[in-house]
Amino acid sequence: MSVKQLVRNCVLKIKPYKPGKPIEELKREFNLRDIRKMASNENALGASAKAVAAIKKHLADINRYPDGECFYLKKALAKKYGLKVESLIIGNGSDEIINLAVRAFINKGDEVVIAEPTFLIYKLAATLADAKVIAVPLKAYRYDLAAIKSKITNRTKLVFIANPDNPTGSYVTRDEIESFLRGLPKQVIVFFDEAYYEYVESEDYPNTMKYLGRGHIIVSRSFSKIYGMAGLRIGWATASREIIEYLNSVREPFNVNRLAQVAATAALDDKKHVERSKKMVRIGRKFLCEEFNKLNLFYVRSVTNFILVNLGGKAGFIYSRLLGKGIIVREMSDWGLSNFIRVTIGTMPENRLFLKELKKIMFELKKGV
Ligand SMILES: Cc1ncc(COP(=O)(O)O)c(C=O)c1O
Repeated sequence: MSVKQLVRNCVLKIKPYKPGKPIEELKREFNLRDIRKMASNENALGASAKAVAAIKKHLADINRYPDGECFYLKKALAKKYGLKVESLIIGNGSDEIINLAVRAFINKGDEVVIAEPTFLIYKLAATLADAKVIAVPLKAYRYDLAAIKSKITNRTKLVFIANPDNPTGSYVTRDEIESFLRGLPKQVIVFFDEAYYEYVESEDYPNTMKYLGRGHIIVSRSFSKIYGMAGLRIGWATASREIIEYLNSVREPFNVNRLAQVAATAALDDKKHVERSKKMVRIGRKFLCEEFNKLNLFYVRSVTNFILVNLGGKAGFIYSRLLGKGIIVREMSDWGLSNFIRVTIGTMPENRLFLKELKKIMFELKKGV
């Protein structure tokens, strides 16, 4: 019997997630030394110095299993956000919490409603659980919550809302969310994925933790983005005590490593690092948008640390040429957006270098060089 005959049917249905190109891979392929990664919405400033110091302090403890309950990190999160420790779960990245939600709540054939395009992991996780995935198109590059609501049936179990969204960088407002939540069928769990929460400065951006008592709601956040700790893999979520109990019952006992736990606990304290990161992104985003305007390029207005920009039919070519210059951006064909790239806002020298190379490539293309 072939391996293909042995594998679960749902595994044959998925397209494995392809992350942004790793720096190490580009170094190997192009024999380059100096690489700028602007592909995976990481923090170009790095992690908080407090997090790095905490890791150094605990390095010698790695012979021991981590605390499976993440007690100290939960305590720090509970204090910071005014939550109960029992209402928290820590994940190996917020990716893991998305997967835990599916693992805990989705039976074969249950409906999972998502937007399209959006963060790819929702569809992947749901497909692997044999769910029926209902994908609702974006409207003008934003979640269309009214259309999403209209697709909810008595078989809908889970709705994922990335707010802000990736890859668009757009967000849904408080009013939109409130109207969405009003009268939602009781069996629906709404998963608010807020990996980019800290970057948003818009007044009408909702505080979804306020809705936790209203129906079944999960709110997830990440340490990979503004906290600059993507390499450690750590994220968290809050929900009712009962939901958290079921998420905990399907997670691996030691899902979050020891160094990630101490680093995240220390990073929560470092307000200055968060403010510096926000400022870098605010300034860099304005700069890049102004330059895109000058180049007459369409882009989606972003409240995050990345921008989705339309480069037309040559986007794939431009992506490859940028790679050759040591600049990694995100190629978007996996999202069905092959005319676009997604660029993560970097430090100002990185933003300038990216633009300089982009302009050169566009100029050459125009001249037919
Ligand atoms: C919308 C969204 N949710 C979740 C994640 C996963 O983040 P983490 O690194 O915490 O797993 C990402 C990462 O890119 C994201 O863009």
